[in-house]
Amino acid sequence: MSGINIGLGNNDTEIRREANSDFITFWERQAKNLSWFSTWKKTLDWSPPFARWFVGGTINASYNTLDIHQQNKADKPAILWEGENGESRVLTYKDMWTRVQKFANVLKSLGVQKGDRIIIYLPMIPELPISMLACARIGAIHTVIFSGFSAAAIKDRIDDSKSKIVITADGGYRRGNIIKLKEVIDEAIKDFDFIQNVIVVERTKNKINMSSKDMLWNELMHNISDTCVAEKLDSSHPLYILYTSGTTGKPKGVLHGTGGYLTHLYSTFKWAFDIKDSDVFFCTADIGWVTGHSYVVYGPLLHGATEVMYEGAPDFPDVSRIWKIIQKYKVTILYTTPTALRMSMKFGDDLPNSFDLSTLRLLGSVGEPINPEVWKWYFKIIGKEKCPIIDTWWQTETGGMMISALPGLETISLKPGSGTLPIPGLNISVVDETGNDVPPNTKGYLVIKNPWPGMLLTLWGDDEKYRDVYWSKYKNCYYPGDYALKDTDGYFWLLGRADDVLKVSGHRIGTAELESCIVSHHDVAESAVCGIPDEIKGEAIIAFVVLKQNVTAEALILEKELSIKIRTDIGAIATPKQIYFVTALPKTRSGKIMRRLLKGIANNETIGDVSTLEDGAAVTEIQSAFDELQKSIHKKSN
Ligand code: WTA
Repeated sequence: MSGINIGLGNNDTEIRREANSDFITFWERQAKNLSWFSTWKKTLDWSPPFARWFVGGTINASYNTLDIHQQNKADKPAILWEGENGESRVLTYKDMWTRVQKFANVLKSLGVQKGDRIIIYLPMIPELPISMLACARIGAIHTVIFSGFSAAAIKDRIDDSKSKIVITADGGYRRGNIIKLKEVIDEAIKDFDFIQNVIVVERTKNKINMSSKDMLWNELMHNISDTCVAEKLDSSHPLYILYTSGTTGKPKGVLHGTGGYLTHLYSTFKWAFDIKDSDVFFCTADIGWVTGHSYVVYGPLLHGATEVMYEGAPDFPDVSRIWKIIQKYKVTILYTTPTALRMSMKFGDDLPNSFDLSTLRLLGSVGEPINPEVWKWYFKIIGKEKCPIIDTWWQTETGGMMISALPGLETISLKPGSGTLPIPGLNISVVDETGNDVPPNTKGYLVIKNPWPGMLLTLWGDDEKYRDVYWSKYKNCYYPGDYALKDTDGYFWLLGRADDVLKVSGHRIGTAELESCIVSHHDVAESAVCGIPDEIKGEAIIAFVVLKQNVTAEALILEKELSIKIRTDIGAIATPKQIYFVTALPKTRSGKIMRRLLKGIANNETIGDVSTLEDGAAVTEIQSAFDELQKSIHKKSN
């Protein structure tokens, strides 16, 4: 077998054998690593497509991440926090425990009860995990919203979750600027009576308006008991909702439970990162996305690990910030994204080479396909050819890693660009349109054939949509929406999205959400967006816009207006690289936009059969727009 063969620690083949023969008993054994208040009566209740793990068991996520460490690790740093402006804070396991209990009491004093939803719209500051764990402690369901989303985007999420309380900050630092988060919240909730209170952390001390609903975090925390016993919650009690983009216009509320989710995270964190007590772990993800939920908050804290949490942009004040942080905190394990690596790679090897990265022993990648060249650069320049790289494939919906090399479990040969093997207990295949396994080295659809503990419970308030989105393409198989191939060694290669979800800098953006935003501009009749390969971001957005008849406004002005509209309605991450005004979109005779075709042209593929097109001229127009684009990209790179 070709590939980079590197000693990956333990070699526990027994675990794979056991997992393959009986995945239910296998996961049951893993669940015993957690602290349960009462044990389960049934390991798995599987009525497809609904899985309930450890039925009858009671557990608490806050207890498992904090209380259990108080005996031996109370003074161990849990979070080494680095502010964007260079400030720092260290919070030990005892500090976290005390603050979480106090804040849980604050929530209770405001009338929050088990099952209530709480919106958290905070920058990357310690109060964010503290808020999440305080919710978990009392059985409230946290709903974290990425602090880069605009008022209009968060409005839908707040409305859908009908949250009672919002936790936010006066502002957050981003590339040296202050993002006025409280102002965004004021705008987002102005029509909602169901919000009882807004709790404000003072981070940037910028001026904010305080209404009768608003309360300051510090004042609430001042005179409150630091004892709050963790609720004994059902294993399937919802831990959180995390909204994510899909192929429909509205974001989907992915709902995760407690016992199964924690079992999945405990296991994958241990196997993938081979975590040791002396490690300093650094995951660069924002907690507003699932990677932050699972591998900044729950995974590391379940293990009593010490981790770095960084507040700001990875390229502020310059692209060496991540390397500087690694040197400063003597980081041993880095978990980051291909986008961050590509950004750094562009500036050459001298920058990372000028920092002491010798403490690193393991490197991870997540969120998008990692190109083999980037993989090799990561291995050579950052890991100095001594650190294994784990390329971890998973999704918001899967809760935790699904395909990854597992240094804490076994020794295997790595291949640059491959995620390697599924985690034990998972039956993953690559199939064709009809659901049959494709031969090795053939591109097909990734499917998961059995339930796993971190699996979403459902979509918030919409069981039908849950069934429809993930379980209707193939019978009793979970369909993640990714292309993949399996090579002759059984290694998986992830080949990007098979649906209309875009991955820009690793962030998930739905085309439908973006199109409906563009179409709501008064001059726009129709729109279609698609992704084109981007050297740094992985994918960049291109928008095609058909204007209403008799629109006289100039293209340049309209382009600017549309960009502003997208920033206001969704957020800066969804801003297209280029907007094209065309007279028609390629549609089928039944009126559906042919996205396959747009994608094909955008990726320089042969277009294939276009006989079902309503208007062949549209293809020519789109094709020439792309040709122009290719030329201009070419010109820029020369
Ligand atoms: C993509 C992020 C290739 C994939 C954890 C998936 C990846 C989507 C990888 C989920 C990887 C994630 N290699 N592609 N290692 N990891 N993806 O929900 O398309 O933000 O379906 O979760 O990211 O994105 P999400």
